Amino acid sequence: MPDQPAPRLEVQSLSRAFAGRTVVDDVSLSVAAGQVTCLLGPSGCGKSTTLRMIAGVERPDSGLVRIDGQVMFGPAVNRPPEARGVGLMFQDFALFPHLTVAANVAFGLTGDRAAKDRRVAELLEKVNLTGFGPKHPHQLSGGEQQRVALARALAPRPRVMLMDEPFSGLDNRLRDGIRDTTLDILKEEGAAVLLVTHEPDEAMRMADEIALMRRGRIVQKGAPYNVYNAPVDRAAAAFFSDINVIRGTSRGALTETPFGAFLTPGHADGADVEIVIRPQHLKIDFDRGGRGPLPTPQDGTAARGIVQRARFLGRESLVEFRMDFDGSKLTAAVPGVFLPKAGTALWLMIRRDRCFVFPAAGRAPVA
Ligand SMILES: Nc1ncnc2c1ncn2[C@@H]1O[C@H](COP(=O)(O)OP(=O)(O)OP(=O)(O)O)[C@@H](O)[C@H]1O
Ligand SMILES: [Mg+2]
Repeated sequence: MPDQPAPRLEVQSLSRAFAGRTVVDDVSLSVAAGQVTCLLGPSGCGKSTTLRMIAGVERPDSGLVRIDGQVMFGPAVNRPPEARGVGLMFQDFALFPHLTVAANVAFGLTGDRAAKDRRVAELLEKVNLTGFGPKHPHQLSGGEQQRVALARALAPRPRVMLMDEPFSGLDNRLRDGIRDTTLDILKEEGAAVLLVTHEPDEAMRMADEIALMRRGRIVQKGAPYNVYNAPVDRAAAAFFSDINVIRGTSRGALTETPFGAFLTPGHADGADVEIVIRPQHLKIDFDRGGRGPLPTPQDGTAARGIVQRARFLGRESLVEFRMDFDGSKLTAAVPGVFLPKAGTALWLMIRRDRCFVFPAAGRAPVA
């Protein structure tokens, strides 16, 4: 095999316990130059601790951190943060209040004055703040401050950018635009980026690869499309959207439900399974004098439900049903405005190509 270049950032089996409790457990990942990996997971799952260990501000109990093939942390090696070539950006991205914008951006730069000035001007232009150099942070809006913080972190051309919820202090209106600008600049600068977030939307928007973390471990890694469309377990599916769950028992690799039979290969005879469907993948059809649409191979059999509540959420409407077959609740999402009255009878079908089958909960982990 030809020699592959070393990934820009490589983390192997990183672990850390606090007071006997393991909060980061055998985490491995690698990020290539110019790529963005999002470390995504619920609050307290160990994302920040992982990032802090890579940065060198928290000491791992074990594991290896390499940047461009050079060991930053490992047996008998623990380089200080400033010798790792990493840029850091945290949630509270505190700028130095007594320094001007230009001085903030120049903070980590070495070299002669003219070279520093050039780099500062180049970055201020990139973040669309040309002319803001002489101002002080308190004269800037939150979004502008965030962009100065980004420029400051990128100024020394870090090989690796570590970002911990860098957008969470911004209001919603600003956030999408700033995320996109930030992503463009990160790509231009070519650093390997590890971005921590607990928001699936942010990870979907920013990441080349998502590393889904739960209770200290990475449970799934992949491109956003794959992580969303092929979740490893029920909790991984539930992390990205509301889910509907239909239970059944697999027999001969088939599970019979009120929505018809589902293929459940790989599940033993008699094994309880959960069929998981996102609300976007339930199809709704009208009642035809007490009957629904005919079964189809793609959508299976329709089952009747009574609308409990319908809400318009902007891009889509969410309709909650109580199902005739067992009184359970299912939620369907419909693009645009669809607000049937409570009490309306409608028929639901499940797209066979968009459902996931998992062993029934009990042993399954909870997010
Ligand atoms: N210095 C510390 N001493 C003791 N416990 C700690 C320390 N730092 C973190 N922890 C604990 O480790 C766990 C993981 O914390 P961490 O900050 O890495 O989570 P996180 O995934 O970043 O969460 P959030 O999304 O809320 O920021 C938490 O239970 C936290 O209380
Ligand atoms: Mg955190």
